[in-house]
Formats: sequence, C-alpha cells, structure tokens
Amino acid sequence: MTLASLPPRPPSAARVALLGDVVGKTGREVALAAVRPLRDAGAELLVANGENASGGTGIAAKEVRELLGGGFDVLTTGNHVWKHKDVLKMLDDEPRLLRPLNYPPGTPGRGHGSFPLPGGGSLLVACLLGRTFLEPLDCPFRAADALLAGLGLGEPAWPPPSGAPAGGAPRTPSLVDFHAEATAEKLAMRFHLDGRVSALVGTHTHVQTSDAEVTALGTAYLTDAGCCSAWPSVIGFEPQSVVARFRTVRPHRYLPAEGPGRVEGVVFDVEREGGRCLAVHAIRVA
Ligand SMILES: [Fe+2]
Ligand SMILES: [Fe+2]
Repeated sequence: MTLASLPPRPPSAARVALLGDVVGKTGREVALAAVRPLRDAGAELLVANGENASGGTGIAAKEVRELLGGGFDVLTTGNHVWKHKDVLKMLDDEPRLLRPLNYPPGTPGRGHGSFPLPGGGSLLVACLLGRTFLEPLDCPFRAADALLAGLGLGEPAWPPPSGAPAGGAPRTPSLVDFHAEATAEKLAMRFHLDGRVSALVGTHTHVQTSDAEVTALGTAYLTDAGCCSAWPSVIGFEPQSVVARFRTVRPHRYLPAEGPGRVEGVVFDVEREGGRCLAVHAIRVA
C-alpha cells in the first residue's frame, strides 16, 4: 500500500510507523525522505530498524545521529548491532536506540523503552531477537513474558480464555519488533503475544510479507516489514556480489546496492487508551 492510499486514522487511535531494516546509504536516504510523507499521513511515532544502516551491516554512532536527527523517534536493531564499536557507549546513553532484549544480563544498552505519543499517551517499544538459524540467545518468548509480567500482562492469552472480550482486553499500547529469520518462529510469537501487545512486526529477512492482519484479540501482526534499500537489489545488496557468493560458494563481500530505492514497513493505528490495534497496513514507498 502507498501512503496516499492509507485510510484515515480512527479518531481514538495513534498512528505509528515501523520501517524495515535500513540498508546502507541509499536505505538511509530513502528512509529519511519518507519522514515528512509519513508525518503527513498522520504517523505520530516513527520507528525504524537500523541494524544495516552503516555500510549494510550494523549501525555506527554517526548513522544513529543521522536517523534520529532526521526525524525518527526510535531505532530498533538486531543481530548486527555489535558490528561497530562506537555504538556500544551510545547503547547505554541513548534511550531511543534499542538492542534486542534477550541478550544475557550485563549486555550494554536496553531492549525496550516507553516513548511519548505527541497526541497523548505513550508507546512501549521492545526489540526481540529470534534463535532459529541465529545465535543461541536467551529465549525470546520468556524474555517477552518477563517484560510483560512487569506490566501486569503476564500470561499468554492463546487459546483465548472463554468469555474474552471481542477485540481483546485492554493493554499497554506496545510494539514488538521481532528480528528473526524463521517465519515459523515469528508466527509462534504471534500466538504467544496475541492480545498482550498492540503490534508484533517481524524484521531481519528484508523481504516484505503479505500477511498483515489484526487478530481477533486486537494485535497487529506482520511476519516481515521488508527493508529500506536500493531497488533492484538482493535484500539491499548489489546483486553481482550476492550471485557470485551463491555460484562459487566462496566468500564475497556483500556491497550495499546504490541508486533508486524504496521504503518498506508497516503503519498501524492503536487505541491510545486500551492499546488494542484497530488497523494495520504494510506499506511500500518507491
Ligand atoms: Fe537486517
Ligand atoms: Fe538481522
């Protein structure tokens, strides 16, 4: 869906946007160019996954400043967040920069934060990292449980208890970026967090999926938001280098693709009071 075709925001809701992984210079340029159109489309809070913002892998302090200074309110990350050493201190000092929550105790930075919505209320944003085909981290399901327990939203709601209110129970307005490789792991999290968070959106594969929905319990879900990158490309990278790696089965440096780009992500409308999601739209801005 383009921004021009988004339906109006329901009056009781806040509109929030999450952009998929920002890849390299072109990704940063197209993401920053989308800030004004997203604001014009009613987005109050702009979140982007920045884990590929610096040269295609990781995010350095310079790119954190560029994206936050250019209008993004929160940056989530993922498995590549540790690539650039100068970001380590920033993870401790900059509350708008999140690393995945489920790293071991003592890891620099934080995995969640509460961010004010200019129209009233606030949004909890959390970042989780999957374990399937990735590093054997602490369990993201239990990490989510521990976070939600602290908010009085302790128990998984699936299957929905009999008598559960249509549209789900009130909750803290919240967005979880689940940065994971396996679609099944993301879908499992959809059921685990159903009715407990406002929106659960996958990142990391860089390929936008077509399964955006609001569940019967009022949780927005999308398996993967896609990416902000040059297009055409292979998940944001120069096709020649990627094809060479597959053809030769030898290391080839992936170079971020440059040229015309596009922005992919998700826009959702969440009740300021009650935290149920009312609508979700996968977006692509060329
Ligand atoms: Fe990524
Ligand atoms: Fe990733």
